[in-house]
Amino acid sequence: MARPEPRRSSTAAVDDRVYLHDLKPRLTDMREEVLTGLKVTPRRIAPKYFYDQRGSELFEAITRLPEYYPTRAEMSIFESRLEALCVTLGRGNVLLEFGSGSSRKIRLLLEGLRPKAYLPVDISREHLLEAARALAADYEWLEVHAICADYAAGFELPWRSLDAAGRPVPMTGFFPGSSIGNFERPAAARFLEGVHRTLGAGGQLLIGVDRRKDKARLEAAYNDAAGVTAAFNRNALAHLNRALDGDIDVEAFDHAAHYDDEAGRIEMHLVARRELTFTLAGESFSFAAGETIHTENSYKYAPEEFRALAAGVGFDTVEEFTDSESLFSVFVLRAV
Ligand code: AVI
Repeated sequence: MARPEPRRSSTAAVDDRVYLHDLKPRLTDMREEVLTGLKVTPRRIAPKYFYDQRGSELFEAITRLPEYYPTRAEMSIFESRLEALCVTLGRGNVLLEFGSGSSRKIRLLLEGLRPKAYLPVDISREHLLEAARALAADYEWLEVHAICADYAAGFELPWRSLDAAGRPVPMTGFFPGSSIGNFERPAAARFLEGVHRTLGAGGQLLIGVDRRKDKARLEAAYNDAAGVTAAFNRNALAHLNRALDGDIDVEAFDHAAHYDDEAGRIEMHLVARRELTFTLAGESFSFAAGETIHTENSYKYAPEEFRALAAGVGFDTVEEFTDSESLFSVFVLRAV
């Protein structure tokens, strides 16, 4: 049998001060993954399927909802504690963001930290380059090394910035938005372990984490009155219809989100309003009324719980910042 071709990474200058390091991430087989998830009990689809063009717009709208506090709480910490954060992290490092860097938070940090170079990491080449070019255009002092890779799977750094003496410039990682909450707890530990390996000993990680809190506040954040989260949840089905030639009646599913206090997680589901059948990627599925598809978990962490998770994979907590209502935490961790 012929061996598969090794996947070679490549580096190219794509614009003034913008470089692309393409690690050629393996894309999962969407058809296989989705069909498998819909055949198990309980049925499930991965939260990444929320994010087609429409899903990303709906998520943007979620971040502006009065009930959805995480984005505002995290932003308030960056705005009110920027100088303290920059002093703790130190200026002139290499800033590596897990995600493609289109948020307002990265702009604040870039202005505050003035990094030697900025390294956004994302699986989507298109989003990555669009964000990289926009930042390089807005900050004429900034060198951007965009890395196309699946950060959730771990990756080797393809490029290192060296100082005048030839030593590697220290690394600061950035993972905002409580995206860590969308990993199952063991996967969150594995992800942080990978981050530790990527940053190396002495590297720092600035990470946003949503806290455990009372059920009513959490459930309101995922069941907004305007129905934007419901539309976001249902959009996963619209995305499947388009990508896998399906005929799912999206409106036949209700949005459901509840907080499981013991597990410390919000669960999102889609619930069939009535008995129904649909076809997806050439296969047929039947649902009883009330049958569900599990679409997302969003884990919340008490501060000591997160510190213990980080310590378990070799990170010391240097500092923890919170907002005026103590809803959200921003941690500065150091890899030991
Ligand atoms: C992206 N992620 C951190 C969001 C969260 O809160 O878990 C996704 C989201 N799901 C529903 N609302 C927002």
